[in-house]
Amino acid sequence: MKKILVIHGPNLQLLGHRNPSVYGRMSLSAINERLKVQARRFKAALTVIQSNHEGEIVEAIGKARGRCDGILINPAAYTHTSVAIRDALEAVGLPAVEVHLSNIYARESFRRKSLMSPVVTGQITGFGPESYTLGLNALIGLLTSRRPKR
Ligand code: DQA
Repeated sequence: MKKILVIHGPNLQLLGHRNPSVYGRMSLSAINERLKVQARRFKAALTVIQSNHEGEIVEAIGKARGRCDGILINPAAYTHTSVAIRDALEAVGLPAVEVHLSNIYARESFRRKSLMSPVVTGQITGFGPESYTLGLNALIGLLTSRRPKR
């Protein structure tokens, strides 16, 4: 069974209330429920965390080594600022998919750069809660295929 760590970054606990015109009305717990149903279909096991603290996210990524097969991450605002999370993803060396609800390239200029994108396997941005579904699908496909993982 493939083990996947799902990481939601800062302020994503507010999904459902937070800027619904940008992020939609689905709550984080509803997104997580959907991901769990999807994972069950593929016989994958999910560990899900949400944190507003950079160091906690760095530690979770570091601890995934030897315990998880892949990472699905929405680093939220840290996408654009965190060298520490970027380095953790690079160091752990696991296949990782970066997801964003909004299309970060169609928004303010400070959001148009992801420090994560060079060190993840791929990025999905702009499909609302569907970004997570697509991301999990991509990650499971990657983990179960024979092609090189990174
Ligand atoms: C986000 C985009 C980020 O720019 C923002 O800071 C977030 C959410 C998204 O999912 O669209 O918190 O990662």
